[in-house]
Amino acid sequence: MALIAWVNGQFLPLEKAVVHIEDRGFQFADGVYEVIACFNGSFLDLGAHLKRLERSCQAIGIELPVNQEALQSLIEQTYQQNPFRDAMLYVQITRGVAARAHLVTQQLTPTMVITSRALPMPSTEKISAGVNGITMHDIRWKRCDIKSIALLASVLGKQEAKLRGADETFWQDDEGHILEGCATNCFALINGTLVTHPLDHQVLGGITRNMALRIAREQGIGIEERRWKLDEAGLTECMMSSTTNAIMPVCHMNGELIGTGHPGPIAMLLRQEMLKAFAALQSDVPH
Ligand code: PDD
Repeated sequence: MALIAWVNGQFLPLEKAVVHIEDRGFQFADGVYEVIACFNGSFLDLGAHLKRLERSCQAIGIELPVNQEALQSLIEQTYQQNPFRDAMLYVQITRGVAARAHLVTQQLTPTMVITSRALPMPSTEKISAGVNGITMHDIRWKRCDIKSIALLASVLGKQEAKLRGADETFWQDDEGHILEGCATNCFALINGTLVTHPLDHQVLGGITRNMALRIAREQGIGIEERRWKLDEAGLTECMMSSTTNAIMPVCHMNGELIGTGHPGPIAMLLRQEMLKAFAALQSDVPH
């Protein structure tokens, strides 16, 4: 069945849903995006995603082409136009089309694209084996808090992980602190406290990161948002979070075991509680 995409004001079959070759997204990666999960018609933290999209747009001086309610409705319609019960909605907004020049001299109409695909979920085998990570020196730009479509560094990081038989690359700052993954936030359990890099320009404020911290608090687990390293004494677990992963245990890093080398109890507890929250969300909305 042909997928249906929203592109610049209309729903079209994916093959026909095209943008101009002089779109600044294509020429300069001059745009931002969101990835949103939908479970049986219920969107996970849609409000938070829309706010982050608005912040990303503001940060690069793009005006949202439609208001928040209209955008929400378009996202819902795109979900409904496609046949997936659990879906991953992708929203991309670029500055628009203009003859190629770095400087923008006129008011452009932003390009907006929305697609809906099956939500990719980690397999049971991956959950029980845990994620295999590698680390690399951070080669990204200095505004990783903006959800920019300029993802070349993340693409290279992912490719390198694959080459080395791993699943994800975690970026390290100059002093060796773990920042985040190519498409995930990263946490460690250190002396029983859940530790993750503070929100600054070096990491994306993940919606799932927030959720993980909230669930940890509810479970009575201490939280610290501070810089951390893999070789800290008392580090027993690592885990990562994202819209498409929920929480996943990270059991190896650069070929070495993290803790026992098996999914840790806190990662699995947080994962289980997060999945419960997803399930509760579905029962809230009749569909
Ligand atoms: N990536 N950090 C980075 C660099 C990311 O690209 C992402 C998400 C996250 C987690 O954010 P969230 O919890 O809001 O999904 C953290 C998306 C899923 C992607 O690019 O496909």
